[in-house]
Amino acid sequence: MTLDKHSEMANIVIGGSRAQQGMPDFEEAISEEQLESIRAFVVEQARRLQEFQQQNQETLESAAN
Ligand code: HEM
Repeated sequence: MTLDKHSEMANIVIGGSRAQQGMPDFEEAISEEQLESIRAFVVEQARRLQEFQQQNQETLESAAN
């Protein structure tokens, strides 16, 4: 997600601002605190994926040389 999407996340997930586009409104199901945990989880996964991809890139480059 882009940075502006992060700041909009509560509107999207709890406020239903994308309900017309098919993203359900989770207001009844998720508290703001739980949403913050979900956001932290997603950010952590993205960080790990990026680290993994960087390591792979370095391995591929040193194999090629
Ligand atoms: C806790 C669960 C979920 C979270 C935290 C979540 C979060 C988000 C966020 C942040 C976006 C905006 C992404 C972006 O534009 O960069 C998004 C988009 C979307 N989500 Fe979810 N989502 C969840 C579950 C679901 C489920 C269960 C569905 C379908 C049944 C769904 C359908 C969609 C769709 C169709 C979009 C695209 C809306 C558009 O075109 O603007 N999401 N979601």
